[in-house]
Amino acid sequence: MNTDTSPLLQDSFAPPALPGWPRLQAQWVNDIKRAALRQLHSSNAGERLLLRIYLIGEQATEIALQRDLVTEPPDWLVQQMDQHLAEEQEHVRAFGAALAERGEDNEAYSHAQPDWLSRRKIAQWHAIARCYEASFANGLLVPAFAIGLCAEQMATRVLERHVLLLNEMPESHPLQPLLVRVLADEGRHVRLCSDTLTRLIEPYEQLAFKKMLDEIRTIDRSWSVTGAIGLLLIGLIFRLRPDRS
Ligand SMILES: [Fe+2]
Ligand SMILES: [Fe+2]
Repeated sequence: MNTDTSPLLQDSFAPPALPGWPRLQAQWVNDIKRAALRQLHSSNAGERLLLRIYLIGEQATEIALQRDLVTEPPDWLVQQMDQHLAEEQEHVRAFGAALAERGEDNEAYSHAQPDWLSRRKIAQWHAIARCYEASFANGLLVPAFAIGLCAEQMATRVLERHVLLLNEMPESHPLQPLLVRVLADEGRHVRLCSDTLTRLIEPYEQLAFKKMLDEIRTIDRSWSVTGAIGLLLIGLIFRLRPDRS
């Protein structure tokens, strides 16, 4: 077990400051997604879609953590992973309850799959995990938690954007307490993944880790503009539909 906390490793956990084109791209994604959120909040169907996206995203987090990569965690990780999973399951229940309050049967989503773009991204992340497995003494655990770190940072970014937008609305929104609570949990999960990686990575593995993390983040960004535009188009369609219930 490694307890090294070198600045190189700690720096690599934080989302990098993006240069030039990627920074512009991230700004576009943020602007387009803010516009999409405004459109989706203007109809009940749009709000239900947002809740479905969150619910399915939470289910995918569980799947990624639970089954796909970490089949036999070491003893010191078992309790932590169980607790983390329990919190993600609580998020699934909370989004399901919010859907039920809006008249939607969330049982229909108990076996739902993430959208095509998300599935493609997860598949690419898993390919990177297999590729780097042999680079670490702790094998797949390191890429699994690196992917977890990126997924939790992505969830934090998405929820922060949403909460900020709701804060700008003239009246308090009924979804705000739920999103603020989940955001606090996801922020804690980011720290949990960082702390776990600090224990898992040997000093001589840090360069390989940084290279792998760059690849994981590049895949995250490569789909972001497409996803943002898709969400905006759906929001516009819901808003312009004659029946907006
Ligand atoms: Fe979650
Ligand atoms: Fe999480």
